[in-house]
Order: sequence, then structure tokens, then C-alpha cells
Amino acid sequence: MIVLGIETSCDETGLALYDTAPLEAGRPAVLGMMGQALHSQIAMHRDYGGVVPELASRDHIRRILPLLELALKQAKLDLKSIDAVAYTQGPGLAGALLVGSAFGQSLAQALQKPALGIHHLEGHLLSPLLGAASDGVPNFPFVALLVSGGHTQLMLVKAVGQYELLGETLDDAVGEAFDKTATLLGLEYPGGAAVSKLATLGKAGRFNLPRPMLHSGDLDFSFSGLKTAVLNQIKQHSQFASANAGDNFRADLAYAFVEAAVTVLVSKTTKAMQLTNCRDLVLAGGVAANTQLRLALQSAAKNLQFNVFYPPLELCTDNGVMIAFAGALRLLSKVSSETQTERSGAFSVKPRWDLAPH
Ligand code: KG4
Ligand code: ZN
Repeated sequence: MIVLGIETSCDETGLALYDTAPLEAGRPAVLGMMGQALHSQIAMHRDYGGVVPELASRDHIRRILPLLELALKQAKLDLKSIDAVAYTQGPGLAGALLVGSAFGQSLAQALQKPALGIHHLEGHLLSPLLGAASDGVPNFPFVALLVSGGHTQLMLVKAVGQYELLGETLDDAVGEAFDKTATLLGLEYPGGAAVSKLATLGKAGRFNLPRPMLHSGDLDFSFSGLKTAVLNQIKQHSQFASANAGDNFRADLAYAFVEAAVTVLVSKTTKAMQLTNCRDLVLAGGVAANTQLRLALQSAAKNLQFNVFYPPLELCTDNGVMIAFAGALRLLSKVSSETQTERSGAFSVKPRWDLAPH
């Protein structure tokens, strides 16, 4: 079975083809990745310091068909070989989601194949099941730490389609805090990776930033106060804060920010591992690419004897492969998606959509 995946929830247009044959034959899931085409709109939105929804939708429209052709060409397949179409139905920007949804459903109807509306976060949290390098894959049930520009959640994953929310951010997502901190430090949008890199040049101990909700006793997070603490430091030290200042101020502050964010993420995640008694942890979403977070979780895992799994690095941020793969897993495990069960003929998107009840 060949599944086409379409991701257009934010500022990446991703199309990919996934072949379920290796997985069905008990071979590594990663072997099913056939063709993938991705266009990031980051450069287009950079001048505005964030994603401009209308520009995003228009660019998805421009890119989606050429990217499908590219993915098919890479996979050496044609339209007729597609057996199902999986597209991101939500959450995300309404106009951007509509492009992928309209395109995916129309194509599925034309091909007389099923269309599946996939939850974007399900795509992220199942992607480590593809198996990166030689690390193997997590076993159900596992805990997933989902860290992206729009979400920060700890989720108990019992099976494909069975998710239990353990905790989440009460305000900003951690990726959002990274991006806002990047802007405060004079780095370009989206600056998560740049903050992380700058932090490697910084020294410990110069700033003591808060660790929000570290001792709250639950598995929830809060990151807006941390970003404000960065802003306050910049205001107090305005003589050092410019990008050209010879002082290591910005690097030391980036270090303190990353240290505070990672400390809270790791603390709550280890607590979730203990509470659920799970052996496997999945780290997913854009911030899963963060080196400091990976290292800290790795060392916590060693101490507490659990295993950490990541998606392949290039699949941490948004892409079509994870949507195709989530669609494939739903089809193989016979878990229907919302769209399959609705089948109203009209296409709907869900800009706000919880993967698990609160
Ligand atoms: O999952 P994603 O591509 O899009 C959303 O669904 O939000 O995540 C993007 C987020 C951005 O906030 C970006 O700054 C952050 O992931 N990010 C990073 C790193 N790479 C991407 N944050 C910290 N360190 C990184 N290396
Ligand atoms: Zn995402």
C-alpha cells in the first residue's frame, strides 16, 4: 500500500510517499520512505518576524502540485500507484490547512481512494516509530514529549490512536519561548536553533533565570515568564545587549535560557516516566532537534534506565513523511481517522483540535 502524506498546517509544504510493504513484512519501517518533497517558507516570513497566515496559504497553493510531482518522481511512482491520501487536518492555520485538505480530498476522490485527516501532533509523536539509524523503535505504551513552536505536551501513547494527555504548557510553547528569546537576542526568526548554538558559546552561572513550575507537583509547564525574565535581563544590561557588543552577554544569557528550559522539560519528563512506569520515551516536534535537550534527556535516561527515541533529525520539524506514516499506521492498525468516519463530502479543517481530552 502506498500512502501519500500532505503537510500544510503552518509554514512548510511537505509531500511524501510511504510504502507499507517493509513494515508489513516485519522489516524496519524506515525502509518504506519512498519520495519526499519539502518547501520551507521560513525565508518568506523572516522579514515579518513570524508566520503571516495569508502569505502561508498562498505559498502552499503555489507549491503543492510541483512538490507532489517531485515526490512521485523521486519514488519512481505515478498517481495511479497511490492507495490512500493522508493530510494534516489540524491543528494549525485555517487557510494553510484548507490547502492541504482541499488538495488531498480532491485527489483521493479523483483516484477513488480513501482520504484520512491526520492530527499534526500524531504525525510528530509517531515518527520515531520509523526508527532512526540503529536505535530501534519504541514499544507501546510509551511517553511522548512533544515540543514544537505551537505545543508543549507530555502524552501517554498506548497504541496508534490511543493517547492520554499527562501535562501541557499553560501559556507559551517552548519553541515559541525559544523563538521570542531569539528575537530578544537579535537572532533571526525562527531562532530556536540559533539560540541553541549561541548558548554553546556561553558560560554557566552568570544569570539565574527562573525554572517555571518546576515544583508544581503536576506535569504542566509555563514558559512565558522565562521569556520575560530574559527581557528583564536585557533591559537591565542594555549596554551589553547589542549584537555587536564584545561582551559575552548574549551567549551567557542564551546559555541560562536554554539551561532553565531544558531543566524543567527534563524534570517533568522524568517524573512522567516514573508515574507511568514506561520504559520508552519519544522526543518529537521541532525542539526535539535541540542538542542540549537531547543530551540532558540522554543522561536522565541513563540514570533512570529508560530509553529515548527521536525521529531522524530531518523529520523533527514539519514534513510530509510523518503524515504519510501516521496515515499508514492508522490504515494498518485499522484505526479510522475522523475524516474516514465522517465522509460528509465537504472538507473540514480543525485549526484547534486536541489530540487527547483534557
Ligand atoms: O514542529 P515544528 O517544525 O513546527 C511546529 O509545529 O511548531 O517546530 C518548530 C519550532 C520552532 O519554534 C523552532 O524555533 C524550534 O522548533 N526549533 C528548535 C530547534 N530547531 C527547531 N528549538 C530549539 N533548538 C533547536 N535546535
Ligand atoms: Zn509541527
